[in-house]
Amino acid sequence: MADYQNLIGREEIDDLEAILSITNTDMDEVIRSVTDNSDAIFTWDYTKGARPALDKLYEKAKTSQWNGQTDLPWEIEVDVESVVVNNFIQNSADGESFADFDTTGTPFEKWTDKQWLEFGIESNNWTLSQFMHGEQGALICTAKIVETVPWIDAKYYAATQVMDEARHVEVFAQYLQTKMGGYYPLNTHLGLLLEDIVNDSRWDMTYLGMQIMVEGLALAAFGFMHMMTTEPLLKQLLRYVMSDEARHVAFGVLSLQEFYEGLSDAEMFERQQFAFEASVRMRDRFLQQEVWERMGVPVKDAISAVMQTPTRQMFQMMLFSKIVPNCKKLGLLDRNDQWLRRRFEELGVIQFEDWKDTTDEMEAFALGETELAPAR
Ligand SMILES: [Fe+2]
Ligand SMILES: [Fe+2]
Repeated sequence: MADYQNLIGREEIDDLEAILSITNTDMDEVIRSVTDNSDAIFTWDYTKGARPALDKLYEKAKTSQWNGQTDLPWEIEVDVESVVVNNFIQNSADGESFADFDTTGTPFEKWTDKQWLEFGIESNNWTLSQFMHGEQGALICTAKIVETVPWIDAKYYAATQVMDEARHVEVFAQYLQTKMGGYYPLNTHLGLLLEDIVNDSRWDMTYLGMQIMVEGLALAAFGFMHMMTTEPLLKQLLRYVMSDEARHVAFGVLSLQEFYEGLSDAEMFERQQFAFEASVRMRDRFLQQEVWERMGVPVKDAISAVMQTPTRQMFQMMLFSKIVPNCKKLGLLDRNDQWLRRRFEELGVIQFEDWKDTTDEMEAFALGETELAPAR
């Protein structure tokens, strides 16, 4: 049995009480400083292409840049209520009730359509807000990789990713501010994860935390939202962001594959534990506790009810559809008596292990010639 108390601060993965006891206590915070324990590493080996896969990725990144100001149709007006209704009509099975589960005995028993609509708007806003904060995490982590990774090809590639992430923060922030009227503060569980990643002194842990875990989840979540949304501006924004994210995740897999080959069992165990901890933090954050607070319903009861629904359970699992195959490719699943495999079994996500990993799948996400042309 794994020592969960030490890893995630609670004995049971699904202890809702413990999860909800950690909340954002400073909602008005504007600046947060986090200690970065890494040394900045210079290299005097300037041999470009010493790592051909990274060099190729760098060249690809240079020709895949887009401009968030001119390539997206910002003139589209977004009516947040109609978006929720249209998404519902397109995606619901019966097209009748906003609730896709039996609400008897739950805090939603007496909810009107108006309340469900309000919830839909808040939920969309919250989700995009956390994407935006996560993008800033990626911006900072990738700048950190430029400093800490010892290989010149990786520093070059990471520099292009810094630019990509700036663009991602920019477009999500613009969307939230101009189309949704504002955003939610950083979710505490996502914040804890970002802090863990920045705190760690080992350069490969930034990759594991950000490129493999956070961006792996983002790629799956963006894909899900891209498929579900009927709002054309958001759909295109997500499409553009995803084309970059696929490259970022591939960057993580390609870099870590080489590095992990030389690690001992004990060193690999630390990486396995880190991957598990990150998985749990990301699962916790998707409970959307701040949305339930804003809707004025008992948070624990609301989450308990919603988590039972099949759509929700499927969504929770799908978030791991990129992470698990990428962890497998890195050899993280089975070292140390299959430690991480066992944990992913407990989280109910091991079934994704043989799905495509992102290095195989990256080309499918690339933008085509027509998409790279200006939108108007
Ligand atoms: Fe990003
Ligand atoms: Fe990214």
